[in-house]
Amino acid sequence: MSTPPPRRYDDIAPRAPEGEFALASVLPGAGPLELDIGFGRGASVYERATLAPGSRILAFEIKSKWAFKVAERCEQRGYTHVRVLCGDVREILERTTDHAVVQQVSVHFPDPWWKRRHTKRRVVGDELLDALARLMVDGGDFFVQTDVPDRAEIYVDTLRRHPDFELVGEDGRIDENPFGARSNRELRAVEDGLPIYRVLAKRVARALTPG
Ligand SMILES: C[S@@+](CC[C@H](N)C(=O)[O-])C[C@H]1O[C@@H](n2cnc3c(N)ncnc32)[C@H](O)[C@@H]1O
Repeated sequence: MSTPPPRRYDDIAPRAPEGEFALASVLPGAGPLELDIGFGRGASVYERATLAPGSRILAFEIKSKWAFKVAERCEQRGYTHVRVLCGDVREILERTTDHAVVQQVSVHFPDPWWKRRHTKRRVVGDELLDALARLMVDGGDFFVQTDVPDRAEIYVDTLRRHPDFELVGEDGRIDENPFGARSNRELRAVEDGLPIYRVLAKRVARALTPG
């Protein structure tokens, strides 16, 4: 009897539903909905899962190997309030249909591309923010951190220009990670004593419609 071929991570990584779907229905329940975008090896997902057992945590990663491994470990640890979705977060969120369901969003050390021709790959940009503006509750938190000062400037500018977000304080800069869940890159930067540039913005309140 021949042995079956090895299963590819692409085939076994957890995926979002096809077509249009309600994001909140992926992880039904009453707890606040949180997103962790591009979690890589998953340290921030595990730490947040223990810090916020009452939240529903949706974690997105484009690399199928990490999506599979982190989902597997969450299952082993009994984190039923975490769901991993593999794919381009921008494409997944664009297909969602709900409004004002997400309480907070974290993006740890995104966009490791330097070349101008890779600008389109950048996760934190208008496409993502437009989808999040629809999905986030009024006053919901959007947190992004990086070890690249120029990138932080770009995130501040992008958030400042977006009509549905407002930077916290003068320029959105904060000293500490507000949610306490540290990513692998963050842990390494702290260990190496490297600076981290953190930015926090809020989803502005929607205008009240008369009637
Ligand atoms: C530099 S790594 C940071 C990983 C982790 N957040 C950390 O801080 O250790 C950026 C991560 O974002 C993921 N990523 C890049 N583009 C993405 C996209 N469009 N959708 C989801 N994840 C994405 C990459 O695969 C990678 O794991």
